[in-house]
Amino acid sequence: MNEDVMKCVSAIRNITEFKPKIALVLGSGLGNISSKIKVAQEISYHDIPGFPVSTAPGHKGSFIMGYIEDTPVICMNGRVHFYEGYSIEEVVLPVRVMHALGAEILFLTNAAGGTKSDYRPGDLAMITDHISLFARNPLIGPNDNDEGPRFSDMSHAYDTDLQKILLDTASECGIELKTGVYVQLTGPSFETPAEIRMLKALGCDLVGMSTVMECIAARHMGMRVCGISLVSNLAAGISQNLLSSEEVEENGKAAGPAMSRLIIESVKKMS
Ligand code: HPA
Repeated sequence: MNEDVMKCVSAIRNITEFKPKIALVLGSGLGNISSKIKVAQEISYHDIPGFPVSTAPGHKGSFIMGYIEDTPVICMNGRVHFYEGYSIEEVVLPVRVMHALGAEILFLTNAAGGTKSDYRPGDLAMITDHISLFARNPLIGPNDNDEGPRFSDMSHAYDTDLQKILLDTASECGIELKTGVYVQLTGPSFETPAEIRMLKALGCDLVGMSTVMECIAARHMGMRVCGISLVSNLAAGISQNLLSSEEVEENGKAAGPAMSRLIIESVKKMS
C-alpha cells in the first residue's frame, strides 16, 4: 500500500472500524442514493489528510459508510476528475483507499454523452467495456507487486457476473437498461462533432471524463468492477442543443430515482 493511501486509511481507522464490501462511486448529480443507506458513519474528505476534494458541480465531498440491507457499503458522494488539475494518482487514490478498507467490488456511475442512435437523454446504460483515450494510465510508474501485477489483464474489465445481476435486476424492476462501451477523455471541454464522429467510428457509445482510470486501478488490485452511465445528453453534433453542465445535472436528477433503485436492488444481490 502506498504511503498516501496508508495515511488516509489510518485517519479513517481512527474514526471507524467499518469494513465495506462494496464501494459505490456516485457521479454528477447522482448522489441521492445516500438517503437509502442505513448510515453508520459519514466522513468528510476534508477530515482525511491528502484526500482530493471535488470542485465539480453536483459533487459533494464525503464518504458515507453504511448498509444496504445487510451489505456493508462505502459510498463516495462526489469523485475528483483529472480535468480539475489533480494527478492521475490523486484521481484513483479514493479507489485505493476503499479497497484498503475492505471493498471487493467497485460500482461506478457517471453521466455521459451518448453516441448510439437508440439512446435518449435520461437513459441508463450499463458499461460493458471501455476505451481509454488520451487519459494517462494510472498504473504508470513503479509497480506495487503486493497490490497487483505489472501488466494487468483487462479482458473482463467489467465483471460478467455483475453485469448479469444489473441486467436481471433492471428487468425485474421494469427499468430499461441499455448497454454501451464507455470512453474516458480528459475534458473539461465537451467534444467537437468531429471528435464524436471519430469516437463513434472507434466503437465508443458513451463519452465521459471519469471511470476508466478508476476501473483500471481497481482491476489491478483484483476488485470486481461494474458501471452504469446515465446518458445525460446526446453527444455533440448528434444533439441539436449546445452541451451544458446544467443539462447534465438536470437529466441526472430526472433519472436519479431509477438509477438509485437499480443500484440498491442490484447491490442486495451482490453480497
Ligand atoms: N461528453 C463528455 N462528458 C460528458 C458528456 C459529454 O457529452 N455528458 C456528460 N459528461
